[in-house]
Amino acid sequence: MSASSPIISVRNLKKIYRIGPNRVHALDGISFDVPGGSFLAIVGTSGSGKSTCLNMLAGLERPTSGTVRILGKRIDQMDERQLVRFRREHVGFIFQSYNLIPSMNAEENVAMPLIFRGIPKEQRQAVARKYMEKIGILDQATHMPNQMSGGQQQRVGIARALAVNPDIIFADEPTGNLDSHTTAEVLALLRQIVKEQKKTLVMVTHDQSIADHADIQIRIIDGKIVERKGYSDEQEKH
Ligand SMILES: Nc1ncnc2c1ncn2[C@@H]1O[C@H](COP(=O)(O)OP(=O)(O)OP(=O)(O)O)[C@@H](O)[C@H]1O
Ligand SMILES: [Mg+2]
Repeated sequence: MSASSPIISVRNLKKIYRIGPNRVHALDGISFDVPGGSFLAIVGTSGSGKSTCLNMLAGLERPTSGTVRILGKRIDQMDERQLVRFRREHVGFIFQSYNLIPSMNAEENVAMPLIFRGIPKEQRQAVARKYMEKIGILDQATHMPNQMSGGQQQRVGIARALAVNPDIIFADEPTGNLDSHTTAEVLALLRQIVKEQKKTLVMVTHDQSIADHADIQIRIIDGKIVERKGYSDEQEKH
């Protein structure tokens, strides 16, 4: 795949939540492409629809209407079993709250997603250690999450996302719980990963200065895209 062909293609995506008699148009017909190998930020204020959008791209929630095509496959048409498989093969997640398993040490947390791929223990450990070294946390391999700082825990979260060698990494406010210095470090690390390992990164943030680290930005207000930045002329904007 060339660097600029879209790996993700979203068309007229809508999500309506029903809360009692009310209908919330969380996503109100958004269309955009994510070029392969790029770092895209979805930026917007609280409640604008960012997480809803990310969850739909990751196949964690079903759209009300519209299409999501990833690596040429229609995510919106997959059943639960196909989605689980698709996520396992192609997707890594980084969460705001790290989501580490408290009873497992750092290395075990990083190796955890490989269990579901049926990879034997020794190989899991080797892969985990490889990514921990890349991220600069190998010396903390035996530390438990509650013995680590937020920035260290998030590095474990990043190493865990990379361990499955995903094509795409989805990150929802990955630096939301970090101070500004650690935020800058983690963002630099994410940029480096996208560049060196040719991953595609889709990151959600409410913070414009964090979004500015991305190659491409889309701004959402009330479930609609109001601004796009960083797309080249050849790339489809829609
Ligand atoms: N499961 C749900 N049921 C009902 N309404 C929901 C649900 N999830 C989100 N919403 C509504 O959809 C809208 C968009 O929510 P979303 O979580 O996508 O916002 P966000 O941009 O991620 O905000 P934040 O920055 O606070 O995380 C909001 O009005 C929210 O109340
Ligand atoms: Mg959110």
